[in-house]
Amino acid sequence: MSSPPFLFPLQKKSMGHLIAPSILSGNFANLITDIEMLNQSEADWFHIDVMDGVFVPNISFGFPVMEAINKHTLKPMDVHLMIVNPDKYISQFKQAGANILTVHLEACTHLHRTIQAIKAEEMSAGVALNPHTAVNDLEDIITDIDLVLIMSVNPGFGGQKFIENTYRKIERTRNLIEKSGSKAKIEVDGGVNIDNAPKLIEAGADVLVAGNFVFGSDNPTQSILDLKSV
Ligand code: DX5
Ligand code: ZN
Repeated sequence: MSSPPFLFPLQKKSMGHLIAPSILSGNFANLITDIEMLNQSEADWFHIDVMDGVFVPNISFGFPVMEAINKHTLKPMDVHLMIVNPDKYISQFKQAGANILTVHLEACTHLHRTIQAIKAEEMSAGVALNPHTAVNDLEDIITDIDLVLIMSVNPGFGGQKFIENTYRKIERTRNLIEKSGSKAKIEVDGGVNIDNAPKLIEAGADVLVAGNFVFGSDNPTQSILDLKSV
């Protein structure tokens, strides 16, 4: 049954989405300042990018840094693994403080098994898709997962240019979630800023990751609030 249009204006709900600043763009020589800023800000999650130099052409950081962050953060750690063989390290990521653990579909031969292993450690389970990977590839796993991470740049680096096809991809993911009855949230990661954020929310994104837009700004706390207020 369709509802009268005045009850559901086309303008998207405000403040319903989550913001996950990516610490990858923080100051690694003084992370405590960035952590405390995020703790005091409107940020919902800490987005933690782990890169192995194999799955992506860059190496970021590993367990010691995550453990150090975990000692100070007051918010959930949203860990995005850009590594091959993530199964090997699932319990270690749990011990290092991960609350949400996201693996790349392209890095998992037995994705269903990997998702079950993440859930067995009592973490929320996410699946990330590279820009070239079809949303349809999630069809048989969508009801098992808590998060779909749509990459809006090729993974590996902060500060890259947003890929415009992402809007359509988010819409397709939203359709798949609704059709299947999945409860998964949609997270978008890469090149997010105040100009594309409204359109991303409108397309169906629940969580916006932002690195350069937050940490490259003069006032990161305000930039987070700006994204949250879209
Ligand atoms: C890229 C990472 C992103 C990155 C986002 O591989 O997954 O989380 O830090 O940074 P920006 O927002 O600068 O593109
Ligand atoms: Zn990320």
